[in-house]
Amino acid sequence: MEGGVQIGGHASGLGTTQRRDTWWVGPLLTVFGILVLLGYMTWAAFQGDHYYTGPYLSPLYEPLLFIDGSAAGSAPVDHAWIGGWPAWWPDFLPVSPALLILAFPGAFRATCYYYRKAYYRSFSATPPGCAVGALKQNAYKGETRLLVVQNLHRYAMYFALLYIPILALGAFRSFFHDGEFGVGVGSLVLTVNAVLLTAFTLGCHAWRHLIGGKLDCYSCDAPARMRYKAWSWSSWLNARHQLFAWVSFFVVASADLYVRLVSMGVITDLNTWS
Ligand code: FES
Repeated sequence: MEGGVQIGGHASGLGTTQRRDTWWVGPLLTVFGILVLLGYMTWAAFQGDHYYTGPYLSPLYEPLLFIDGSAAGSAPVDHAWIGGWPAWWPDFLPVSPALLILAFPGAFRATCYYYRKAYYRSFSATPPGCAVGALKQNAYKGETRLLVVQNLHRYAMYFALLYIPILALGAFRSFFHDGEFGVGVGSLVLTVNAVLLTAFTLGCHAWRHLIGGKLDCYSCDAPARMRYKAWSWSSWLNARHQLFAWVSFFVVASADLYVRLVSMGVITDLNTWS
């Protein structure tokens, strides 16, 4: 049909498209957001200091397995799950408790289905948007070659689930300073952070499948009805997964920054204890 709309196929050549909208804004913001937040969190994880100021602990350092008590702004050694800093730690790595634990939430986020879309589009341009020419036409091999590691997402999720009670406990502890109950800005920041990371984790596609998948009848018995309820809540979060991915990413970096600045004495925490 002359002058009709052509459906299907892709324009060839990077960025070539017949789209008239600002399709490039999303991928560009994604590059900026990921570089800034990931850059900050990597830097913060390598510092190994100013991650604690009682009763606040940076979420990037939860849980504290070992502690080097000599670092400025470090937690007391008796806060460690295991003990003082181990002698086997390699000399070429900085002494930082975050380096012991960040691989797990890092793997969970890096292999997340939403983030895959985000960085495939923004960083490897395969393609950069719907109906937009890719960097290399037909070069994308799905997750069958190098990116086959993405299939580990469901296993990363099991570890990520463990962080929910750990972060909730950290948020709870932030309301008690030297055994006295109170509220500070830091308590609120750490609580919001725990809630958002929980919302991100429980909206995961793999979690949603785990609790609601492989079931033929949702109303046949009480366990099935409970699973249906949990699946419905997860579905609500899942529909907003992109939102929670970004907000939780931003807030976890901000929570570390907040604790760091208070610990360094750059800003003062408003609270009911002082
Ligand atoms: Fe995003 Fe699992 S799909 S965390």
